[in-house]
Amino acid sequence: MILDVSTSTPLQNYKILSNTITPRPIAWISSVFPNGLVNLAPFSFFAPLCVNPPIFSVCMMQKSDGSQKDSFKNILQTRKASISMCELSHLQALQDSSAELAYNVSEANAFDIPLEVLETSYPPVPQGIKVAFLCDLYDVLELGEAKSVLLEARFFYIADSIYAKDLNFLPHFVGRVGRIYKSLGAQIMLPNKDETKPKKD
Ligand SMILES: Cc1cc2nc3c(=O)[nH]c(=O)nc-3n(C[C@H](O)[C@H](O)[C@H](O)COP(=O)(O)O)c2cc1C
Repeated sequence: MILDVSTSTPLQNYKILSNTITPRPIAWISSVFPNGLVNLAPFSFFAPLCVNPPIFSVCMMQKSDGSQKDSFKNILQTRKASISMCELSHLQALQDSSAELAYNVSEANAFDIPLEVLETSYPPVPQGIKVAFLCDLYDVLELGEAKSVLLEARFFYIADSIYAKDLNFLPHFVGRVGRIYKSLGAQIMLPNKDETKPKKD
């Protein structure tokens, strides 16, 4: 089957990309509303774009009413975002935080997701996160209806429990969660027992 992109619908494009480019790690993005509350939302159209400087791209589509997503508005306004890499223990909270709530209403408050501050000038992240990237807005690419937000990491956070001086810490703790893993997560995500032991310095 050959599908011609010039005739496919946005939904078909989305389904084909999201079902074929997989697994994709999820960027769990914190941003701050004008009222100071914290917005949380997951984004899977997320990729590292450049190593030096470390820049990520996140494709933010529109809300169901055609307006811009809260994350996008906040990031444009504050120029800050924290990207957390999620693990299985956060899966339900991650899924909950994808709810489309009114502007200035925090998913963290609505779903009782505890937060922690890693660095005072960046949005707080969900408590217990092991890896996060504290980012400044670098640029926004206007690609059709969607916006690809480019975020430059200014700080890397790696929890002491996985940190190793040689930086060969184990990525099995992070990422690898997404829509499809909601039901399959336990089967897909369980690493080998040996791989779950934090690496010594
Ligand atoms: C696992 C998962 C991945 C998602 N990936 C994206 C994505 O890449 N781009 C996007 O625009 N929305 C994505 N969504 C939907 C947003 O999380 C959702 O629209 C959310 O309400 C946006 O929140 P905000 O308006 O607070 O920014 C995803 C949802 C889930 C559950």
